[in-house]
Amino acid sequence: MSEDYNPDFETLLSYLKQNCGCDLTFYKRDSLMRRFQRRMRDLKIDSYTNYLQYLQRHPNEYTTLLDTIFINFSGFFRDRDCWTYLASTIIPQIIANKQPQEKIRVWSAGCAYGQEAYTLLILLVETLGIEQYLERVQIFATDVDDSALTLARRASYSEEEVVGIPIELLSKYFHKNEQRYVLDPKLRSTIVFGRHNLTINAPMSKIDLLVCRNVLIYLHVKTQASVLVRFHFALTNKGFLFLGNAESLTNKEIFTPVSLKHRIYTKGQSLTLEDHFLIRPQTRTKTVLDPLSTQTLVWQTAFEKSAFPQLAIDAKGYLIVANDQACKLFSIQNSDLGTFIQNLELGRIIKALALIRQLNRERRALKKQNIEWVTEIGTTHLDIYIQPILDTSGTLIGANLTFIDITKYIHLDLELEHLRLKLAKISNGL
Ligand SMILES: C[S@@+](CC[C@H](N)C(=O)[O-])C[C@H]1O[C@@H](n2cnc3c(N)ncnc32)[C@H](O)[C@@H]1O
Repeated sequence: MSEDYNPDFETLLSYLKQNCGCDLTFYKRDSLMRRFQRRMRDLKIDSYTNYLQYLQRHPNEYTTLLDTIFINFSGFFRDRDCWTYLASTIIPQIIANKQPQEKIRVWSAGCAYGQEAYTLLILLVETLGIEQYLERVQIFATDVDDSALTLARRASYSEEEVVGIPIELLSKYFHKNEQRYVLDPKLRSTIVFGRHNLTINAPMSKIDLLVCRNVLIYLHVKTQASVLVRFHFALTNKGFLFLGNAESLTNKEIFTPVSLKHRIYTKGQSLTLEDHFLIRPQTRTKTVLDPLSTQTLVWQTAFEKSAFPQLAIDAKGYLIVANDQACKLFSIQNSDLGTFIQNLELGRIIKALALIRQLNRERRALKKQNIEWVTEIGTTHLDIYIQPILDTSGTLIGANLTFIDITKYIHLDLELEHLRLKLAKISNGL
């Protein structure tokens, strides 16, 4: 058992998980315990059991506790040389990889009081110019801590908080209001702030630059691995991941360093199907050898290695998973997972909304026959078997699609028809 294992502390964490909807079990115990103890010292409480009783009697204590737990320390241009490298080397590459009018999507995950997101904003405006920035850039800034987000949205900082901003940029982007520096409201409103828990919520998608600095460090190694899988999923194929100076990668093969010194990476190896299951919160651990996980592994492998192209969509028509054969047939990339299928190549033969409507109406397996899939290399004829997936209450939650290639039978049919005609001609001539 780990040295940090303390049954009373675990009971306290279970209470918070079940009663306050706050799951701290993903965090490293040593630092978590230190922070609980700090709060307990303030209250002169000497044991986790007594603190649990205090929490039960004082519902407002929960908010104060979270303020102690989530360390929101941040700063503009924190670790300046990393930001200089980002501005001089990475941002120009992101722009070069795009078409002139194409959108650039940036995600600051664990943004605390917003300094990181506003630093990104400043660098992007400096590089693109204000007009291009307004037209093309979308910055999402998320954190698990609502009170930090409220302050981040205000974009109002004290004299000490703005020391990291080069003086010319400070006067260009902020105006001084009494003793506070407030970011230009028009620019401030371009950032979308939202609550997002990296350990639980589904990741964003099609992100070109994902900045997650000084957050992973607080998480368990296993949790870090599953968050990194989600980051891989979130990024476009040419996207970049920017971590904090004290952070390193746990699952190294899925990212390739661009600059280790500055903790900037691109995508490495593709995700395996097993990784995809890590994206989902309920299947977080990779190597638990219990009968259930063995069954899951058998099921996953059967799906992945099936001779037939197969994929699953959710009840809104978004792609959840596709096996090797389906990826090959429809040129599906990892970055396509989570995309509305109508917007994929596959959308040429599947009318997603009509299909969902039909499944909702009929709630039975469907078969679409002899659908033509036309590509540069020719026409493939497909029968599509569609199996609705219903939950225990009978609500449609998705569908499984299997594609059977019937091209050779169509060709045989044609040949047969041809022969029949020939035969008819011959017997007519007789
Ligand atoms: C030390 S701050 C880092 C702020 C900023 N990224 C930086 O490097 O300056 C860590 C932030 O991560 C947030 N955080 C902690 N756990 C999180 C989770 N599971 N999901 C999203 N944010 C989380 C905290 O609320 C806090 O605001």
